[in-house]
Amino acid sequence: MTDFDAAASCFAIDGLSLAYDGRPALRDLTLAIPRHAVTAFIGPSGCGKSTLLRALNRLHDLDDTVGRAGRIRLEGQDIHAPDVDVAELRRRVGMVFQTPNPFPMSIYDNVAFGLRLQGIKRKRTLDEVIEWALVSAALWDEVKDQLHTSAWRLSGGQQQRLVIARTLAVQPEVLLLDEPASALDPISTLKIEELIRSLKSRLTLVLVTHNMQQAARVSDYTAFLHDGELVEYGATDSLFTNPRLARTENYITGRMS
Ligand SMILES: Nc1ncnc2c1ncn2[C@@H]1O[C@H](COP(=O)(O)OP(=O)(O)OP(=O)(O)O)[C@@H](O)[C@H]1O
Ligand SMILES: [Mg+2]
Repeated sequence: MTDFDAAASCFAIDGLSLAYDGRPALRDLTLAIPRHAVTAFIGPSGCGKSTLLRALNRLHDLDDTVGRAGRIRLEGQDIHAPDVDVAELRRRVGMVFQTPNPFPMSIYDNVAFGLRLQGIKRKRTLDEVIEWALVSAALWDEVKDQLHTSAWRLSGGQQQRLVIARTLAVQPEVLLLDEPASALDPISTLKIEELIRSLKSRLTLVLVTHNMQQAARVSDYTAFLHDGELVEYGATDSLFTNPRLARTENYITGRMS
């Protein structure tokens, strides 16, 4: 991408191809993801959005049928270099999925989970970080009087904000969100969108969405993928108002599903 300054990019993806059992899912993608911005991946079902998102924190490591070529750098460092600690990579690059997945424990213990794994035990420190994370995830006011009740008693939208709080608690630099609001009602969806916008002053966000309006509302940059290829990528305003390619225009106007 010529219009992105490499120095301002969080991820630099270079010639990335990925195949499941020999079947290509990503084809030679090169793009940079700007720091402190929201970048949306859009495109038809099966085009490779989740595959690309998961590549950014090496979730495909768990699947030995996946073949990869190309390079992904995070803040200049190759994420596949032999000295990279994958657990630390996943702390730096947090991930939130479509279906809220709080652990079967209290609200407090959910948010404390990653901190305790890091060996943080002091109650005062935990209390402080947990409040900060829940405030950051715009959930504190709704749960501050029930921190020790089960997370499963929360609504779907609250559970998704709890999962975001749990992810934020370990101070990631990047938050990957794979259709984080698609299982939620319209009001909860707007809360998640507001939250995404509010977080970009603090970290870099990458959002997969099927919802064109959502991409237009919350993202600064949009990448349109089709059949594993990066078709068009640029500032969201210009991609939506003045797409360069007919394929992009057909998709965003609903002529391609
Ligand atoms: N674990 C897997 N094993 C084998 N093939 C997979 C796997 N995950 C995805 N694929 C295939 O890779 C391609 C890209 O899938 P991916 O899930 O990245 O698409 P997507 O754009 O996220 O789609 P959706 O919008 O439906 O979530 C599809 O052809 C899919 O069938
Ligand atoms: Mg997907």
